[in-house]
Amino acid sequence: MTSSPLRIATVIGARPQFVKAAPVSLALRDAGIEETLVHTGQHYDANMSAVFFEQLNLQAPQYHLSIGSGSHAYQTGEGLMRIEKILEEVKPDAVLVYGDTNATLAGALAAAKLHIPVAHVEAGLRSFNRRMPEEINRVMTDHISRWLFAPTEVAVRNLDAEGIRSGVFQIGDVMMDAICLYQSKAKAMYPDLLEQLNLEKGGYYLLTMHRAETTNNPEQAMAILKALDNAELPILFPVHPRIRPLVERTQAETPFQRIKTIEPLSYFEMLRVEANARAIVTDSGGVQKEAVFFEVPCITLRTETEWTETVAGGWNQLVGLSVDKLMKALDNLHQPVQSLKTVYGDGNARLQIAEILLQERSACSPALTSAG
Ligand code: UD1
Repeated sequence: MTSSPLRIATVIGARPQFVKAAPVSLALRDAGIEETLVHTGQHYDANMSAVFFEQLNLQAPQYHLSIGSGSHAYQTGEGLMRIEKILEEVKPDAVLVYGDTNATLAGALAAAKLHIPVAHVEAGLRSFNRRMPEEINRVMTDHISRWLFAPTEVAVRNLDAEGIRSGVFQIGDVMMDAICLYQSKAKAMYPDLLEQLNLEKGGYYLLTMHRAETTNNPEQAMAILKALDNAELPILFPVHPRIRPLVERTQAETPFQRIKTIEPLSYFEMLRVEANARAIVTDSGGVQKEAVFFEVPCITLRTETEWTETVAGGWNQLVGLSVDKLMKALDNLHQPVQSLKTVYGDGNARLQIAEILLQERSACSPALTSAG
């Protein structure tokens, strides 16, 4: 007797989740798992959302909630109510969520309350800074998940320290899968990107800043921008909408000389400019790992990181929002002590997710067991 396919509902909403979901969706499809995609609409601009769906060949979401911007309570609460209705309608066997955004928490909470088991990809990451909304989202999500797909040994240890031992799988990082799958496509699609941007290989720094922790400290963030504008090399700065007003304010005071601001880049363009930078300055989580993958020194504008291996391996320096530390770090780019390419897995994390979910069918929601 053939059993009915496993049915998964995936909840995504923000840019990094599109990147993480793309390789996993491929693996689910190949394993014969049915996936319903729910897009909360937390990110909605074409260059923050649609372009990722196009490039990564993600199926169009069956449900688009268009929740958009707003307070944390609004994004999470609205997501929770709307996702609950969808889950009641779709009755999936499990719900898949990624990372640490408000969409992650809304999806996980809606599912857990309906007794639908939750699979959390990128489980176990901790900054140990509860002032970050992302930290709240990931801690809460981990504690209500049935499957915890941890990218690293450190993540597994973090879960263990919180008493979470069952359902934990160290599978590597799906962002590595994404780079492995898409970097040659990116190269083929954008062979002349550096020329178009008037930059040379190894002759510029790449800057990304967007976290609430950064934008909530406008004076320090502006001081960072002004200091970087005097750096030795030109700076390429794709501007996330959250920090746009602050960038405009800074430029009104001191027009940029060295910083070249551009609209947010697509994933493929981002891979190209990361791979060719002399160094990357960022407050993003994903970008720190991409820097390591491309063996480009990284400077992180935070005082802590969830990706501690990048610091221990010598690839990443944490400078917070200190201008002084940032400029010193740029003058003294670290010589890495070890290659970290394998710390984040072998680029096949997605296959393990599909395999584990299939193996654990019996742990899935009653919808499956009664249909199967
Ligand atoms: C979210 C995540 C963060 C992740 C980041 C990646 C949470 C708590 N944070 O932060 O973990 O690193 O995504 O980008 O979920 N905006 C637009 N157009 C868009 C999207 C956003 O203009 O397409 C504006 C919004 O109006 C808002 C600001 O950007 O003012 C911030 O958006 P928000 O959805 O709060 O999340 P991010 O800061 O992007």
